[in-house]
Amino acid sequence: MNATTASAAGTDTQPAPKKDFRFVLIAIVAGLGGLLFGYDTGVVAGVLLFLRDTFHLDSTLQGLFVAIALGAAAVGAAFAGALSDAFGRRTVLIITALMFVLGALLAAIAQNVPVLFVGRVLVGAAIGVSSMLTPLYLAEVSAAHWRGAIVTINQFYITFGIFVSYLVDYALADVTDGWRWMLGLGAIPGLILLVGMFILPESPRWLAGHNLLEKARAALRFLRGRSDVDAELAALHKDVVEEGRRAAPWSRLLQKDVRKPLIIGVGLAIFQQITGINAVIYFAPTIFQDAGLSSASVSILATVGVGAVNVIMTLVAMRLMDSWGRRKLLLWGLWGMLVSLVIIGIGFMVQLQGALAYVIVIMVAAFVAFFAIGLGPVFWLLISEIFPLAIRGRGASIATIANWVSNMVVSGIFLDLLLAIGRGPTFLLYAAMTVLAILFTLWIVPETKGRSLEQIESHLDAQPD
Ligand code: BGC
Repeated sequence: MNATTASAAGTDTQPAPKKDFRFVLIAIVAGLGGLLFGYDTGVVAGVLLFLRDTFHLDSTLQGLFVAIALGAAAVGAAFAGALSDAFGRRTVLIITALMFVLGALLAAIAQNVPVLFVGRVLVGAAIGVSSMLTPLYLAEVSAAHWRGAIVTINQFYITFGIFVSYLVDYALADVTDGWRWMLGLGAIPGLILLVGMFILPESPRWLAGHNLLEKARAALRFLRGRSDVDAELAALHKDVVEEGRRAAPWSRLLQKDVRKPLIIGVGLAIFQQITGINAVIYFAPTIFQDAGLSSASVSILATVGVGAVNVIMTLVAMRLMDSWGRRKLLLWGLWGMLVSLVIIGIGFMVQLQGALAYVIVIMVAAFVAFFAIGLGPVFWLLISEIFPLAIRGRGASIATIANWVSNMVVSGIFLDLLLAIGRGPTFLLYAAMTVLAILFTLWIVPETKGRSLEQIESHLDAQPD
């Protein structure tokens, strides 16, 4: 069986799991993937302020500190599917959880830059693997009607993880060696994931796909909390065999009907990053200090506010996604991002005396709010909707890798870009990219609200090139 097609198919005949400890456990594991993604990427915002002093990192090395985890995440996301096809989802997730824990601890105790970086590489690779594999595993162990919710709540958990990391950053901002705790505390959700994965069984779908039917039966019995799972197992096995026959080769990605979804998925992945969101998410305290906020802890407090706005607006987006529609939210969000970025850029250029810091803080919050109702959640949702079934998982993973790579490039060069062209022009550059994102959306991004996945597929196919 192929990891990448499994999530899309699923068995629609499964009854909903009982709301007992298994339900709670699955719900916790569901959140942890996104939470760790958010925590471990967001936490660098506070850490950076310390590292500048502790290890005397210049702007290039600070950029590298951020980027190295993102590069590792791209590699992790690239290999997650194949590794979990070969060794099982559970085994790979257990190793991933171990990497989260070890990486966090290693970075926390690092006495020199190489050890610090190795720790972040481990954490980064773990983020990449889990950003692909947690939703896949959950889709395979859950009943069909859960799957949509898993996709949507993922973005909520990412923003929640970022928010928690900002709170931790704030609480520890004035503590000696606080950065060690900021990085080290990431080990806790990693540990919960590890314990959770030891209790949860291997995916029954994966077991059935490897002809381990007795084990698949035992896993289903555990997950459903009852012993009469024969019908479900039979349906599952039939489904997996059928899917094996349908699975398309990689060359399918080059065919005409996949071209458009691929352009949309990869395009939005790149635009999600080159419009500057993570320049703000990872470097907000640095930006606020540059704008004139007095101390590190005040800057981090303002950052906590931005994190809260991010979570709240993501909840708003989740409510509006099915009534307003993806395309409308995306366009509204992009226009709002554009206006905010232009004001930030001009604000820095004219050096608003005194008031600058406040204008920048408010506009940064507005920028994040508009990202959170549009480009943030819409990207992740669309890549799970627009690819033809036979290639859906692989299409989504290519878009995910493009997202991590663009994130790495943008975040890695942000500080050097500030030095080279200045703060104002840097944000105006992001504004220019947002104009391109608007044109791209108007040109090619379809409305998928209220359509079945099959209707989306035939709609995309019918559009002229
Ligand atoms: C993006 C992340 C970003 C986060 C901010 C996600 O959709 O993929 O790169 O840090 O949103 O909330």
